[in-house]
Amino acid sequence: MTKHDSKQAVQSTSETSGEGSGLLGWIDRRFPLTALWKNHLSEYYAPKNFNFWYFFGSLALLVLVIQIVTGIFLTMNYKPAAELAFTSVEYIMREVPWGWLIRYMHSTGASMFFVVLYLHMFRGLLYGSYRKPRELVWILGCLIFLCLMAEAFFGYLLPWGQMSYWGAQVIVNLFSAIPWIGPDLALWIRGDYVVSDATLNRFFAFHVIAIPLVLLLLVALHLVALHQVGSNNPDGIEIKDKKDEHGVPLDGVPFHPYYTVHDLMGVSIFLMIFSAIVFFAPEMGGYFLEANNFIPADSLKTPTEIAPVWYFTAFYSMLRATTDDFKLILMIVLGLIGVCGVLRARTLKYRAISAVASALVIAAMRITEAKFWGVVIMGGAVITLFFLPWLDRSPARSIRYRPFFHKILYTLFVFVFLILAVLGTKPPSPVANVTSQICTLLYFAFFFSMPYWSQRGVFKPVPERVTFSRKA
Ligand code: HEM
Repeated sequence: MTKHDSKQAVQSTSETSGEGSGLLGWIDRRFPLTALWKNHLSEYYAPKNFNFWYFFGSLALLVLVIQIVTGIFLTMNYKPAAELAFTSVEYIMREVPWGWLIRYMHSTGASMFFVVLYLHMFRGLLYGSYRKPRELVWILGCLIFLCLMAEAFFGYLLPWGQMSYWGAQVIVNLFSAIPWIGPDLALWIRGDYVVSDATLNRFFAFHVIAIPLVLLLLVALHLVALHQVGSNNPDGIEIKDKKDEHGVPLDGVPFHPYYTVHDLMGVSIFLMIFSAIVFFAPEMGGYFLEANNFIPADSLKTPTEIAPVWYFTAFYSMLRATTDDFKLILMIVLGLIGVCGVLRARTLKYRAISAVASALVIAAMRITEAKFWGVVIMGGAVITLFFLPWLDRSPARSIRYRPFFHKILYTLFVFVFLILAVLGTKPPSPVANVTSQICTLLYFAFFFSMPYWSQRGVFKPVPERVTFSRKA
């Protein structure tokens, strides 16, 4: 070893053991600051072919921070009491210095959170980011999604407008459709026979502290799990499989400075769009802030149209689609699935299980209300996402190397979801109802038939090293 080498070796051991000088050394001996910086930023190697779709993770983090900071300032002037809530929001809008900005940032942030998340999740679908070894990253993501839905639902009651009030009434009433325990459960959630001051108080507690704490914990776990396995990329290949003599992935670049700078560009463009909405169209034509919510809650006056905010409408459509007729169709579909199970099962045991299980579910459907099955379908639509890592059996992770018909199926799936979302914003009609019933069936068919179709077709050869294609 030369004199230079030994000097370098001493220097690097002293760095890792926190023997550096100055303030940083002092901190490192007490807290692994440099080690954390290296492990998660300057020596965390991310694939060098990240594209547009990889902006949305950091943007989700940005929106989370915006929501927390603006939320804290709103809480300073908001009053969680039925008599005062609506006027306290008006007070924030008109009297509190910059209150209007804080409020519009928070309301726009809620919608933009879902825009960013839907795109972030769709990227996962495009590149098979949920596949082994990232199943936990995906599952934690799905839990975040559920938590965020709860957070948005609880938050929406707080302005105590007509939509807040009646939206909460409709959703809490859904729980009463659960057999046996339903009515008591709905009463327990509301804390009263109707949505009231007691409901507002508990929703406030959930919105400002309980759910945000869980959300922050889940986001931290999501990132820890991601850094354990490393990021996927648009080619869907593992960069860790090809390393140089120092153990550095050949197709990786340090997250800092490369992706911190890259993400700053995404952040700049996002903030321009965000500010344009906040300053010029905070209501977004009634999609981000509904017109009825500028009227104070009135328990004696039901609005003619009660529709949730746009980010819930796809799931709301599924709920509305579940009428008695649709329940009958579902029973027939389940019966057919049961028959297929009996015919295809290899052993007698599985044949019996298939027959008994489908007969039991069909019998349960016969004796329970369609409304209950609407709730099951709505919840099931989100729960199904958790199983994606095991439903997809494609030999290639990324859409780039999958057969053309997979791309068509993905496109159809996006259309089905968008149609459901649009129909959920419109008043019900016979045509809209049948369309949402068909789309609900297609939504579930996409996922449940995935084990079958995801393996079929002619796959393109997956490259050994990442590529820099401009395709999807
Ligand atoms: C508050 C919400 C969330 C935050 C702050 C967040 C943050 C992040 C960040 C910073 C990354 C790394 C950068 C990137 O790949 O874009 C990431 C990756 C990932 N996230 Fe999320 N995420 C959130 C919600 C979700 C949800 C709802 C899902 C799915 C249901 C999800 C699934 C994933 C997956 C699969 C990856 C790995 C992607 C890959 O390596 O290709 N995340 N997330």
